[in-house]
Amino acid sequence: MAVVAVTGVTGYVGGRLVPELLAAGHRVRAVARNPGRLAGRDWAGRVELVTADAADLEQARTALTGVDVAYYLIHSLGSGRRFESRDRRTALTFARAAREAGVGRIVYLGGLHPDVPDLSPHLESRKEVGEILLASGVPTTVLRAAVILGSGSASFEMMRYLTERLPAMTTPRWVDNRIQPIAIRDVLRYLVASADMPPEVNRAFDIGGPEVLTYRQMMHRYAAVAGLRRRVIVRVGVLTPRLSSLWVSLVTPVPGPLARPLVESLVHEVVCKEHDIAAYAPDPPTGLLGFDDAVRLALARIQEADVATRWSNASVPGAPSDPLPSDPDWAGGSLYRDERRTRVAAPADAVWRVLQSVGGERGWYSWPLAWRVRGLLDRLSGGPGLRRGRRDPVQLSVDDVVDFWRVEEVVPGRMLRLRAEMRLPGLAWLELAVRPEPGGGSTLRQVATFHPHGLAGQLYWWSVAPFHGVVFGGMQRGMAAEAERLWAQTTAPSA
Ligand SMILES: NC(=O)c1ccc[n+]([C@@H]2O[C@H](COP(=O)([O-])OP(=O)(O)OC[C@H]3O[C@@H](n4cnc5c(N)ncnc54)[C@H](OP(=O)(O)O)[C@@H]3O)[C@@H](O)[C@H]2O)c1
Repeated sequence: MAVVAVTGVTGYVGGRLVPELLAAGHRVRAVARNPGRLAGRDWAGRVELVTADAADLEQARTALTGVDVAYYLIHSLGSGRRFESRDRRTALTFARAAREAGVGRIVYLGGLHPDVPDLSPHLESRKEVGEILLASGVPTTVLRAAVILGSGSASFEMMRYLTERLPAMTTPRWVDNRIQPIAIRDVLRYLVASADMPPEVNRAFDIGGPEVLTYRQMMHRYAAVAGLRRRVIVRVGVLTPRLSSLWVSLVTPVPGPLARPLVESLVHEVVCKEHDIAAYAPDPPTGLLGFDDAVRLALARIQEADVATRWSNASVPGAPSDPLPSDPDWAGGSLYRDERRTRVAAPADAVWRVLQSVGGERGWYSWPLAWRVRGLLDRLSGGPGLRRGRRDPVQLSVDDVVDFWRVEEVVPGRMLRLRAEMRLPGLAWLELAVRPEPGGGSTLRQVATFHPHGLAGQLYWWSVAPFHGVVFGGMQRGMAAEAERLWAQTTAPSA
């Protein structure tokens, strides 16, 4: 068992590495500039949390004292123009702090790059950071990866949004450059294995998945796995990296300062030149994870309808390919929400009686005509419409049908989550929940969530969004009024 310090724990890779290191039996010190951002992570109570800026020598030295292995999972790409000098300074400071603190090994995850003189600023900077750490005097492992496949990874999110939102696109020449992407699961395996390397190892290793693909092939394969129609990708010669990065920040929610250096790096072919890492972390018997399986895993969380984590901010104990609540807002694919809360004078049990009997004969408490028209449209397009009603007017269990919904979760007295089975260009859920208020009465919370499928899904959400106020707002007011009416009946003195 080693004492390991992990930097970048608030980030994509670091946040997923910590539970893997704990599982491997290490004592983990999580180093963050703002550990407050780690609240809600299920591993937060099992690690030592240390506040430190890696660019501050004193703080970094204190954070690394008594540490056997220090993970450097830091970059400042999104910070704008001068990211290279910022990253150089941080790496120099960290290297010195590690040496002075007597750290046994540094492990750094950088970028895979070709041996050419004119690298993009991003890849040049990743390379420079590796060289600084290798020259630190502390035995260092540099792992060099291209696109990491997993929900929350900036380069994966960029590809996800471009493919999902654009059925047809024009792209620069780089769309046919070769890339060797790698699944987050395999990256983490290599990072964990690096902790046990013997002291004489001080070198860089290329790490990549089992397939070399062009960006065009990755988008086609992503679309196939996600069940989208084949994308039309037309290569044109005139798009400069700058123009295409502007375009990417327009189409995707990945912030411009982060997207720009990543897009500029796509002009390079990034393919592994060696697989020496296998001497320290042999390939698993089933092989490294292929592109399609990695994408499937990244999409699984949403397709299994387990979106509750995005709502409740609970920590996800699942696979590293899953989204985490601490991921940036733009990660995890589009998920639109219409959330409403209202105070109700009636107690929670009266509100719950209304919630659990929604649909069927009772209807949906707002605009009955609009609901009937929606049901009719659904039937015309081959969906179940409203005709299925419900099995029991009061009781509900998981898997029960309620009109064009199916019950996905019931917490009696508190929460009901319905998953839409109507024909939609995406996945939709409706969650109804009630909470008692200390001063009396209760709060009714209603959340409609939509995960759009392709461009049609985006257009659908934005075309119905203007009516949400009327339909969902009216529904909430109607349910609150019904609960108050029921409550008044039970409290009225009998004649
Ligand atoms: N994601 C990919 O596809 C990919 C591909 C290849 C290689 N990599 C490499 O993997 C490493 C981790 O990347 P990532 O995707 O996990 O990045 P990320 O999600 O953007 O996280 C970056 C982390 O760096 C931290 N940080 C920045 N400056 C710091 C400082 N001065 N002191 C302490 N912490 C600091 C940030 O902390 P705050 O929360 O305090 O800002 C954040 O936790 C990078 O070296 C990257 O080049 C990533």
